[in-house]
Amino acid sequence: MNKQIILLPGDGIGREIIDSAKVVLNSVATEFGHEFTFHQHAIGGDAIDRFGTPLPDDTVKACRNADAILLGAVGGPKWDTVPAKMRPEKGLLGIRKSLGLFANLRPVKGFKPLLHASPLKEEIINNSDILIVRELTGGLYFGTPSERTEDGNAVVDTLSYTRFEMERIIEKGFESARIRRKHLTSVDKANVLESSRLWREIVNEKAKDYPDVTVEHVLVDACAMKLITNPSEFDVIVTENLFGDILSDEASVLTGSLGMLPSASVRTDGVGLYEPVHGSAPDIAGRGICNPLGMILSAALMLRFSFGMEEEASEIERAVGACLEQGYHTADLRIKDGKQVGTKEITEIVLENLTSKS
Ligand code: NAI
Ligand code: MG
Repeated sequence: MNKQIILLPGDGIGREIIDSAKVVLNSVATEFGHEFTFHQHAIGGDAIDRFGTPLPDDTVKACRNADAILLGAVGGPKWDTVPAKMRPEKGLLGIRKSLGLFANLRPVKGFKPLLHASPLKEEIINNSDILIVRELTGGLYFGTPSERTEDGNAVVDTLSYTRFEMERIIEKGFESARIRRKHLTSVDKANVLESSRLWREIVNEKAKDYPDVTVEHVLVDACAMKLITNPSEFDVIVTENLFGDILSDEASVLTGSLGMLPSASVRTDGVGLYEPVHGSAPDIAGRGICNPLGMILSAALMLRFSFGMEEEASEIERAVGACLEQGYHTADLRIKDGKQVGTKEITEIVLENLTSKS
């Protein structure tokens, strides 16, 4: 299969980790007989420096014509003083919005050699394998009015959703559960919020189309608790924007390894943007020591969710796991009796594991 992939390295360690992902994808292409064509474009602080805007039109145009997009990270202290409208993050929000990427998918699964770094006991986190499906374009973050009265003593934010917006994310939840362990946890606050009551009705309607998936409704506060007491009970969690933002950050610390976590933002036709959960790590940028595995695992998600290449995606995930099992890790990770290596070295070791099929 021939695929057009846009690379948006962005800032800080972005370029280093994007380079690693590209090398791994080239190896997968050779091994499986695909052709991946890469086009690199500017975003974030890098784009501000070169083109005076965090999201140049050229970048948007290129992304519109792409099969998928890989993004490193944006931001850093250098741009902390630029006006709010021009900040590097505007590039990221802008590209998600202009591509209509409404579903954020975040897998949370630990690797055994790293579980000792989890804030949870190993036996609690051990068998956890969760996918959080979060609505990304509606809800409280985008509702109007969102304002303060003139005297400054009263405020309003608006939580608004249409049936259409709820249906498409809920379907994404069911579809995701169907190709995993077939259990869907729908998270809402239906005891208080009208929006949640419509959400719950839609989930129950859609459930009829997915008889193979078991559905459970959980209130958001109870879900926050269960994520740390019983994380292995979850398969797919589907929820609206604000709840998803909070729960996915909570879930992201369960495995104890920020540098390992991938994420995806997709729409119905499969086009998606893939990026690691971590930021641009300006404190270690340019030193060749950052961890590229979250970016490499994001590339694996791209193969799975945008290209339907399940075998290729699993192969990358297996190679990353094997590399850790062999004790290799970057400076941000600890493995007992392991060997610390740099960005290029760990990428090489992933490649060796890819081709050795050990
Ligand atoms: P961060 O995730 O960049 O860094 C937090 C800590 O983790 C740092 O000590 C960093 O060195 C370390 N770290 C993160 N990723 C790593 C990796 N792959 N390998 C090794 N160590 C790693 O978060 P922080 O410091 O809060 O933000 C730094 C900048 O990144 C800010 O400008 C922030 O706005 C931006 N940011 C961008 C995001 C994005 O592009 N999606 C997400 C989060 C933050
Ligand atoms: Mg957040």
